[in-house]
Amino acid sequence: MANPDPAAVNSMFGRIAARYDLANRTLSGGFDLWWRRRLVRGVVRQHPELVVDLATGSGDVALALRKKLPSSTRVLGLDFCEPMLEEARRKAPSAEACGPLEFAWGDILELPLEDDACDVITIAFGLRNLADRHRGLCEMMRVLRPGGTLLILEFTQPARWFRPFYYAYLRHVLPRVAGWISGDRDAYEYLNNTIGAFPDKAGITAELEKAGFRDIRAVGMTASIVALHQGRA
Ligand SMILES: C[S@@+](CC[C@H](N)C(=O)[O-])C[C@H]1O[C@@H](n2cnc3c(N)ncnc32)[C@H](O)[C@@H]1O
Repeated sequence: MANPDPAAVNSMFGRIAARYDLANRTLSGGFDLWWRRRLVRGVVRQHPELVVDLATGSGDVALALRKKLPSSTRVLGLDFCEPMLEEARRKAPSAEACGPLEFAWGDILELPLEDDACDVITIAFGLRNLADRHRGLCEMMRVLRPGGTLLILEFTQPARWFRPFYYAYLRHVLPRVAGWISGDRDAYEYLNNTIGAFPDKAGITAELEKAGFRDIRAVGMTASIVALHQGRA
């Protein structure tokens, strides 16, 4: 599969923004909430002062972080798709009482952040959409302080025994159900294609090493449909 085209990705998420959360819950059978909780637990262990959630989308990771971290921690969510950010801002009041939380426009390939600015970066289901993953990972390395932590939640290649069921689900069930929910079957054909073409845990580990990350770990979840990768700057 060719690298995702940023303009097409942006416009696709713009079209499905209003139904994105409902589609996530339905298509994952609610598992997405549990995957994000694992990510948030990994962040809490780092005791960060500033966490930046990249590809924040409708804000579920940033909101969950805001609720679990102390009020002294700042949480910033960045995305390049305004309709997705609008969804995040609409949901923000439920978490803002817990401490500072901001959603802003930002392209991962050219992050609007100083060098060494953050203690932790998170990115959930965003890495797969980048036109240039190496450049994105190098940007993350640049803005993390030395010793800071990157946590990536992303689809991966599932356990071998589960693949036939999983790929059948992705090809035949997911686009149809997602089409009913979001009114945009094409967007979820794209999801199916990007998941199938995405590297496995060893592949992403190698990409993280190439971008300069160390102490890299990857844990598979739910028959390894999804992996949580962690690396240190
Ligand atoms: C599948 S959604 C993930 C949203 C959220 N993190 C979640 O867990 O539900 C992917 C998001 O990545 C964003 N995105 C893709 N490429 C980007 C880029 N280069 N810079 C910033 N955001 C990007 C899209 O706009 C979209 O909101």
